[in-house]
Amino acid sequence: MEKFIVHGPCKLKGEVNISGAKNAAVAILPATLLVKGKCHLENVPNISDIRAYVEILESLGSKIEYLSKNEMIIDNTDISSAIASSELTSKFRASYYLLGALLGRFDKVQISLPGGCNLGARPIDQHIKVFEKLGAKVEVRSGNVYATRTQTLKGTAIFLDIVSVGATMNAILAATLAEGTTIIENVAKEPHIVDLANFLNSMGAKIKGAGTDTIKITGVKELHQVSSYSIIPDQIETGTFMVAAAATCGDVLIKNCIPKHMEPITAKLLEAGANVEEFADSIRVSMDKKPNAFTVKTSPYPGFPTDMQPQICILLAISTGTGMIVENIWESRFQYTDELVKMGADISAHGTTAIVKGVDKLYSAPVRSHDLRAGAAMIIAGLVADGNTEIYDIHHILRGYEDITTKFANLGANIEYIQEDD
Ligand code: EPZ
Repeated sequence: MEKFIVHGPCKLKGEVNISGAKNAAVAILPATLLVKGKCHLENVPNISDIRAYVEILESLGSKIEYLSKNEMIIDNTDISSAIASSELTSKFRASYYLLGALLGRFDKVQISLPGGCNLGARPIDQHIKVFEKLGAKVEVRSGNVYATRTQTLKGTAIFLDIVSVGATMNAILAATLAEGTTIIENVAKEPHIVDLANFLNSMGAKIKGAGTDTIKITGVKELHQVSSYSIIPDQIETGTFMVAAAATCGDVLIKNCIPKHMEPITAKLLEAGANVEEFADSIRVSMDKKPNAFTVKTSPYPGFPTDMQPQICILLAISTGTGMIVENIWESRFQYTDELVKMGADISAHGTTAIVKGVDKLYSAPVRSHDLRAGAAMIIAGLVADGNTEIYDIHHILRGYEDITTKFANLGANIEYIQEDD
C-alpha cells in the first residue's frame, strides 16, 4: 500500500515549475492518431495518466520514443488496431478521446466504456450525439462503445445540450478529417480545448473559434507531421500551488504558468486576502494572515474550475468567517469534506452546497484521497495541520501531479512517500 505522510505545519517558500497540462495532453496524445506520421511533443507531463495513455497507444500500434521524461516522438504511421478494449482503457476517463481520433481514420472503432474519478454520474450522451450527427452509428453494450461509419464523416451543425469539455474535444477530433464544415455551438472554452485546436492546426487542420462559444471546423483530407509542439502549462497544478502558498501563509513564485488562465483563482485568493503578483509567465502568491471567508461557485471556463474546488476549500476551512462552495459541474464532489472533518474542519455539505465555517487549526488524521483533486486538497490540509497527516489512495494524486513530493520539498515541505507491503 502506498501513502504520503505530510509533516505539518509548514510555510511554503521558494519557486516551483509547473508541468504540462494533463487535460491537454490526454487529448493531444490520441489526436496524434489523426496523422499517419510522426509527432514530436514537448512539455508532456510525466504522470501515470500519460504513461497509461502511452501503453494504450502502443497497444494500437503507435511507436513511442521518449527523448527525455517530458518529450516524446509518437509515430502513428502503422496503426494496426482500432480496438482499445482493456482494463486499462476502462479505468481511464480520457480514453474516450480515442473514439473521436480513431473515427477520423477507421470505419469501426471499439473502446471500453471509460471510467475515471468518481465524481457522480458521468454520462457520454453528448459524445454519442456528436458522432451520430457526423454520420457514425454508435452502440453501447457489454461495457463497450462501438462506433462505425460507412463513409467519411460529414460536417454538420451541432449544438451541445450541455457545456462539456470531453464532448467538445471529441467533436474537434472527429470533425478534423470530416468532409465539409462542422459548426459546434455551446462548446467548452477551457485552455486545454484551445491547446488541442492549436496542436491540430499546427498539423494542417482548419479549426477556428476555439476558446469561444462556437467552433468552426473545415474538414481537411489529411494532416501532416508536426516538427515539435509544446503542451501548455497545467492550469490546475498552478492553482493547486497558488492555494497551497496562501493556505500555509507562505511566499511562492510559481513559474512556467499562464496568469491569464488563472484569473478565477487569482480573484478568489485576492478576496481571501492573499497577495498575488502576475508576471509574463509566472505568478507570486504570498499571505501573511488568516484568510477571509468567501463564496465559490464552480462553472465552466472562464468560471471557477470544479477541479480547484477541493483545494480552495482548505482556505475556507481555516478562514476567519463562514464561506460557501456551490458545485455546479459534478453531482458528487464533496466526499472529501468528510476527511477534512476528521482533521477538525467544520463543514456541512448537502447536495451541491457546502457551508464551511473557519476553525483556528486543523489537526493531522489518517485521510483518503477520494479522487485526484481531493488528494491535492489533502496534501494542502496536511501542510496546514499540526502533526503528521497520513494520506491513503495516493494513486489518484499520482495520476495528475508530476514530481509532487519533490516540488513541495523544494518549497520546504516534508512529504514522505511510503510503500508498505499489504
Ligand atoms: C473534464 O472532464 C476533465 N477531465 C475533468 O477533470 C473536469 O472536472 C471536467 O472536464 C470539467 O471541467 C479531462 O479533461 C480528462 P465534462 P469531462 O464533459 O470532459 C455533463 C480532473 O481532475 N456531461 O465537461 O468528463 C457531466 O456529467 C478531471 O482532471 C453530460 O451530461 O467533463 C458534467 O456534469 C476530473 N453528458 C458536465 O457535463 C456528456 O456527454 C461537464 O462534464 C458529457 C458530460
